[in-house]
Parts: sequence; C-alpha cells; structure tokens
Amino acid sequence: MNKALRRPVIAGNWKMNKTPDEAKALIEEMKPLVADADCDVVVCVPYVDIPAALEATAGSNIKVGAENCHWAESGAFTAEISAPMLKAVGVPYVIIGHSERRQYFGETDVTVNKRTKAALASGLKVILCVGELLEQREQGITEEVVRYQTKIALGDVSAEDLKNVIIAYEPVWAIGTGRTATAEQANEVNAAIRACIAELYGKDAADATVIQYGGSMNAKNAAELLAQPDVDGGLIGGASLKAQDFSVIVKAASV
Ligand code: 13P
Repeated sequence: MNKALRRPVIAGNWKMNKTPDEAKALIEEMKPLVADADCDVVVCVPYVDIPAALEATAGSNIKVGAENCHWAESGAFTAEISAPMLKAVGVPYVIIGHSERRQYFGETDVTVNKRTKAALASGLKVILCVGELLEQREQGITEEVVRYQTKIALGDVSAEDLKNVIIAYEPVWAIGTGRTATAEQANEVNAAIRACIAELYGKDAADATVIQYGGSMNAKNAAELLAQPDVDGGLIGGASLKAQDFSVIVKAASV
C-alpha cells in the first residue's frame, strides 16, 4: 500500500457551531495559516454558514463542505437539504453518516447509502464516516462493524464514483471525549477499511482511496496519527474551531 499515491485531506467538522459572522472571522484567521498547505483543506460548516464560508474562502486553498444532505432531489422533507441544492450554491464536499447523525437522528447504514449515492450523483465529494461504539470495540468486533458500515454505505457506488469518496474512520468513543485512538489502533482499522475497499473495487482503487482518522485529533497528537501508513488525513471536530490548532494539524499532514 503506497501512501504517496494519496494526497492527504484535512477537514474540519464544525458541527453546530458558529454564526455566519463567526464563520467568516474564523476562516479569515485560518487563511494565512494554511495558505502553504501541501494537502487538501476543507471546512464543513452548518448550512446557514455556507454562503459566508464560500465568500470568505474564495481564491484561497480552503474548500467548503456541508455536514449532511438528503437522498431525494426535492420534496416534502421538512428541514432537509438536498445534494442538488448544495451543488447549486457551489459546495464541493459533504459529510455523510457522521456518528452523531446515526446516534441522535436515526441515520442507518441504508440511509447513509442513499445519501451517499445522491451526493455522488450531484457531483459532490463525500466524506463518509464509519466507526465502532465503545462496546463494539470491547467485544472485539471493530473490524466487522466498519466493514459492514463501509460495504452498505458503498452499495451500488461505481468504481468511478468511488474516486469522489473519502472515508473517515471515527471511533465513536473517541469523538469529543479527548480519548484518541492510538496511532496503531487508527492505522489498524484504516488498513482494514482499505482491505475492504480492495475486496470491493480492487487494489488500485483501494490504494487511491483517502482514509482519514477522526476523534479527538488535535495539534498535539496529529503528527503521530498522520504519520501512519494508512492514515491519509483527519476529520477534526473541536480543534477545527481554533485556527491555530487547525493549522498545526494541516502542517502535520503536509510533510
Ligand atoms: P472531535 O475532534 O471534537 O473529537 O470530533 C471528531 C469528529 O466527530 C469529526 O467529525
């Protein structure tokens, strides 16, 4: 497996944080700090912040993402946002299947698959989240869980569309807890996901797929995690809300 084949992607997931004015201020602070990044830099922001984020990032190396999208193009789905809507406003990335959506909003592997296919059909790049619960890790079924989630999420996704999929391995027990997976644990599961992609799409496709780690990644632990052969970037929550910390992680991915 050749890490050099893949360009790392560092993506912030702002979750339910920042007003449009605050989003603009944070991006303005980030821009000079990440301008020389040798990796892709993305900020995934609340829907209402998207116009401000697009305006603030214009002409910079920071790309904007949304945090979810619906599977239908339009219709009676109160409060949902469709993939064509995101495309129309100029958003290139979207997170799908985040564990907070699965835990608190009833997302299932099947809806994750439907949303993934809709996003890809609209030409969006998908950051697809998978990861085990603490009790699943303790039961020794981490690999089975992420394989199951990955296979269902990618059902009916073509090899061509897979090029627009980034996978984020986010162990649920590590999200927002300050408890990070060790570099070895992160690499082990990322490698298992890559092996699963190889079974589904072949080795070349697996070698080309960016697989991030997410879960309490911060300015202090990023370098060790990102140095792992199967860790191709990060999906960052809390630390992405601090320009300085986020830029340290971007730099760690740029070596
Ligand atoms: P934290 O970095 O705050 O643990 O969040 C990780 C995450 O959920 C990114 O999607």
